[in-house]
Amino acid sequence: MSADTLVIRPCGPLHGTVTVNGAKNAVLPIMAACLLTAERSVIENVPHVTDVLTMIEILRGLGVAVEFAGDRLTVAPGRYTGTVAAYDLVSRMRASVCVLGPLLARHGRAQVSMPGGCVIGPRPIDLHLKGLQALGASFTIEHGYVVGTTQALRGGRVYLSGAFGSSVLATGNVMMAATLAPGTTVIEHAACEPEVVDLANFLSAMGACIEGQGSPVIRVEGVPRLRGVRYRIIPDRIEAGTLMIAAAIVGGDLAIDGALAEHLGAVIDKLSEAGAQVEKRNGSIRVQANHPLRSVEVTTLPFPGFPTDLQAQMMALMAVSRGVSVLTEKVYPERFMHISELNRMGASITREGSSAIVKGVSRLSGAPVTASDLRASAALMLAGMAAENQTELRGLEHLDRGYQDLEAKLVRLGASIERVSSLPATG
Ligand code: EPZ
Repeated sequence: MSADTLVIRPCGPLHGTVTVNGAKNAVLPIMAACLLTAERSVIENVPHVTDVLTMIEILRGLGVAVEFAGDRLTVAPGRYTGTVAAYDLVSRMRASVCVLGPLLARHGRAQVSMPGGCVIGPRPIDLHLKGLQALGASFTIEHGYVVGTTQALRGGRVYLSGAFGSSVLATGNVMMAATLAPGTTVIEHAACEPEVVDLANFLSAMGACIEGQGSPVIRVEGVPRLRGVRYRIIPDRIEAGTLMIAAAIVGGDLAIDGALAEHLGAVIDKLSEAGAQVEKRNGSIRVQANHPLRSVEVTTLPFPGFPTDLQAQMMALMAVSRGVSVLTEKVYPERFMHISELNRMGASITREGSSAIVKGVSRLSGAPVTASDLRASAALMLAGMAAENQTELRGLEHLDRGYQDLEAKLVRLGASIERVSSLPATG
């Protein structure tokens, strides 16, 4: 666990312009997609977050040369022969599972440590396996590893929906494997997230033949080989949404450059309903808000619904909005670990099944709190900005997995946040 603590003090409205980084959840599968060719690819606009560093370790573990300089990642697979993603890396980051499809397509074999449970709830990989089986792969579980083998993949048809709808990384895994599988693959109930579209665009630039990305039916015609490319990652819609909610929670006037309105429709709609003024510009979103906002009802859903990755941050906003809000989680019904920490800061939130009932309070009170996961860490940071007195946020290894310089960006906009390496014991 990181020894660092964020010391967050109350702040007034935020003002200024901020630029979002490239999307973590787009770059991780795209890094795995580089395994589909021996040629070198150059990926630009890559965020400096620890999940990217973990994926670099996984690729290097397979024998791939990777360099990360500035925001540019160079991946040169050459004649790599590795097929194993080891336990210590997969247990750090579940997205490691997206090497499964590319390794099966290139080597006919992949061995990936079976991802365990995680704090946001059960996260099975049955859809990944079902999709790859439809393309001719077989799987066994051996000593905690999923071992996939195939003589040769071939195109197939698969309906890829589970109890909670489509799956982002399962769609990515099947799409990647299908690029080199002779024949036609049809993925029904495919995920429509912008990160899936970015992966499809990257694969198409490599020479893959893909149609329908961004819709629930994706069609892939297998090609004999792919080439290395230069590619720029889309802006991170979750970072953009987090900054939009930051402006709403303490008030202010923010221009968020790089935020794409077409990726953030549900968030723009809910913040507007809550009373913020949201203006869409070309490649930027401006948010003006006067705290406090009004209560709203939000349900998380696959894209284009409200993203589960902004649920915790939205809950922090609801905690200080007027009236009673209801937040229903339909993607990860157990993703509620942050409720108890927000309540320790004086919020009034009760859980009823997969919903949280949030009674707005006029002010939160700063407290020592610990982040349970990546998005909870951002939510607690925003809550601390809107709270009286000082909040000390621990568990920063979660924040650092997915946000590059979030606290520094907020400080430039007027927040008072300091990262300290150890705090004297209180009490
Ligand atoms: C991606 O995870 C994101 N991660 C997650 O981001 C995000 O929360 C999630 O999509 C949903 O938007 C990356 O892109 C690296 P899913 P993924 O498969 O693909 C169930 C963040 O904070 N399911 O779309 O693993 C699953 O349990 C994170 O950045 C199955 O039942 O999520 C969930 O209920 C964390 N079987 C639902 O589907 C499967 O085989 C959607 O999950 C796979 C998933």
